[in-house]
Amino acid sequence: MFNMILFGPPGSGKGTQSEKLVEKYGLIHLSTGNLLREEITGNTPLGQEAQRFMDKGQLVPDEVVIGMIDSCLENHPGATGFLFDGFPRTVAQAEALDKLLALKKTSINLLAALKVTEEELIKRLLNRGQTSGRRDDINAAVIHERFIVYTNETAPVAEHYKAQDKYRTIMGEGTIDEIFNKICEAIDDTMQNL
Ligand code: AP5
Ligand code: MG
Repeated sequence: MFNMILFGPPGSGKGTQSEKLVEKYGLIHLSTGNLLREEITGNTPLGQEAQRFMDKGQLVPDEVVIGMIDSCLENHPGATGFLFDGFPRTVAQAEALDKLLALKKTSINLLAALKVTEEELIKRLLNRGQTSGRRDDINAAVIHERFIVYTNETAPVAEHYKAQDKYRTIMGEGTIDEIFNKICEAIDDTMQNL
């Protein structure tokens, strides 16, 4: 199996690049943000709880997202690999993920971290906020809160995988195809050395 995390701040291009990567490498795309938004659309109790946090730009509690990932992994027994997008977002989530994968006799092979300046991120998110209907993109204060949460709670996840020698940085500005090619290089390089 080949399992990777596409990592980076809000608006860095995780979702955009994930779509292309899963197509090329046949991985299963697991985006906790997308899964949570599906729960909101379905008006489920989980979705109602999650929305209170998402609207403020704060993280949904660890046990909720870890439970979602656990059942997704169970639902794909024959997968050749997973691409995690927007997860793990806390060190506790990273430790839980490592344990879940170890139970399946596999592990994370690569964390590819997209690097984008804050100025460019804000531009992308406010721009999308005009059309996407994503409530957390419309308000500049909520976007700011998402960056603070990223710095305080999510950035340490990169250190967790750096310590395991799985960490690679990718310059996340330029055209979508240029960035895609750089991520593919990091993946191909990692796959060759498995
Ligand atoms: P989530 O849905 O994960 O959102 P996010 O990480 O804040 O970031 P985005 O999805 O907005 O950005 P992205 O990096 O995917 O970029 P994208 O490709 O879309 O999380 C939302 C909320 O859910 C969280 O705040 C939290 O409340 C909750 N949540 C989710 N996961 C959680 C977890 N594990 N634990 C706890 N809570 C969790 O691109 C952004 C825009 O830029 C698009 O319009 C795109 O078209 C454009 N763009 C992309 N690439 C380029 C480029 N190269 N040049 C120009 N524009 C570009
Ligand atoms: Mg996304």
